[in-house]
Formats: sequence, structure tokens, C-alpha cells
Amino acid sequence: MIKEKENTDETKSKEKKQAPIIEIKDLHKTFGGDNKVLKGVNLTVNKGEDLVILGRSGSGKSVTIKCIVGLIEPDKGEIKVFGENVLNLDKNELNKMRVRIGFLFQSAALYDSMSVRENLAFTLAAHKRDLSAEEIENEVMEALENVGLQDAVDKMPAELSGGMRKRIGLARTLILKPEIILYDEPTTGLDTITSREISELILDIKHKQKTSSIIITHDMACAKLTADRIMVLKEGVIHAEGTYEELEKDEDEWVRSFFE
Ligand SMILES: Nc1ncnc2c1ncn2[C@@H]1O[C@H](COP(=O)(O)OP(=O)(O)O)[C@@H](O)[C@H]1O
Ligand SMILES: [Mg+2]
Repeated sequence: MIKEKENTDETKSKEKKQAPIIEIKDLHKTFGGDNKVLKGVNLTVNKGEDLVILGRSGSGKSVTIKCIVGLIEPDKGEIKVFGENVLNLDKNELNKMRVRIGFLFQSAALYDSMSVRENLAFTLAAHKRDLSAEEIENEVMEALENVGLQDAVDKMPAELSGGMRKRIGLARTLILKPEIILYDEPTTGLDTITSREISELILDIKHKQKTSSIIITHDMACAKLTADRIMVLKEGVIHAEGTYEELEKDEDEWVRSFFE
């Protein structure tokens, strides 16, 4: 008996040192035969961590996060999310995993013909079919509260500013209560003040919802505010890794150039 108890305690203490929530090993992807985009990317995201990925346009940042959710199939490598090997999942298992991952893609558009409420309710109903109308309304209002836009519930997308639309997009991501959020250039196309609001919201979401995230951005103010750790993608591999403060003083001039 006593022995059994000891084992249990040991297991528990091992569980505390959790495996990364996302783990990518030696990821390769070539398009069209000769466009070698990823040439052995390795990265990890720990639970509760916000990882920022920097890199020039076309360096494969979006391709990397699309591989995580199975939107792009890599040629080689290993991707583990929640400890499960993404590349071995069947369609059903992959869909189940995707519900636990929110993404905010740059192009993520709201349905123009639907109000904010309908946009959010539509997403929720598509994923959770057994909710009552009242439950849906509660979830919609809670998601809007999380982005500070309860007042916009009856508005149409065309009536909203770019920053508000981005926040509604984020509310739509949050309504499914994801454990991981992948942000692809969340502040691109927004003015400085609105960008700052979105960056603060990303930080706020991490603290309140206990999410883990990858944030792809060119916006160094966003990186500074949100990054627990930064990775820089160059020529198909992770070229540098560190905190904002570390990379800002990196010995490699190319890395430093992002911070100027
Ligand atoms: N679905 C696709 N089919 C073919 N080529 C693609 C596809 N997606 C991305 N690429 C190519 O991969 C490279 C990296 O793209 P991407 O990951 O979008 O760059 P970024 O770092 O700017 O996000 C680009 O050369 C792009 O043309
Ligand atoms: Mg991209």
C-alpha cells in the first residue's frame, strides 16, 4: 500500500514538470519541388507561454503554424500538440484537437451579412451543437466582455473599425475556449494605438484564460509586450532564440536589425 502511494506521489511530481504543449522537431516543407521553405525547424511552446516568431516575409512563419493544425502537411518531421502526434491523427482526431486550438489568421474575416452576435453564435453552434439559445447568448456576451466590446453585439461588421473587427475576430476565437491560440500577424494593418490595444488584449487573454500561444508578428512593440520567448526564423531554420532583452543585444547584426 505504502509503496503504491509513493508511486502516485512520484507520478504527480513528474506531471508538474509538464511536457511542452507544442513540440516541433525537424520540420521540413518544400513547395513546388524547389521552394524549400522549412529545412528542419525545431521549436517548443511550454504550457502558459507566449512564443513570438520573427522572420522576414516569406520565411515560412505562417507555413509553420499551419502545419501545427494540419492545414499544411509537412514533408518530414514531428509535431506534437497536447502530447499527441498530429501527423498520425485521423480526420476525426484532428478535428477534436483543432477545437482546442484557436487561430487568428490575418485574413480571418467576419460574415458581413451577420451581426456581431450572429457571427459569434454561428461559430459556437458549428462546434458545440448541444447548446441552448440561452447558453449561446451567455457565451457570446462573455466572449465580447473578454475583448471589451459588449456594446457592439447588435452591430454589423461594416459598422466597426478595423481594430474592433480584429477584436470581434478574437472574441470568435475565444468563444470556443481554446487552450492554445495561434496569432498570425494580429496587429498588421492597424494603427499604433489600436495595435497596442490588441497586444494588451493578447497579454490579458494569456493571464485570464491561461492559454499558451504562438504569435507571429513584425510589430516589435507587440513582441516586447507579449513574448515570454522569441524565435527568429531564417532560411528555413530557427536562427536565434531568446527573450526580447537578450535578442535585442544579440551578437548577430541580422538578429539585432529586427529590434532597430
Ligand atoms: N499553400 C502553399 N502552396 C505553395 N507555396 C506556399 C503555400 N503556402 C506558402 N507557400 C510559400 O511558402 C513560403 C513561405 O510562406 P509563408 O509561411 O506564408 O511566409 P511568412 O513567413 O511571410 O508567413 C512562400 O515562398 C510562399 O510562397
Ligand atoms: Mg505569414
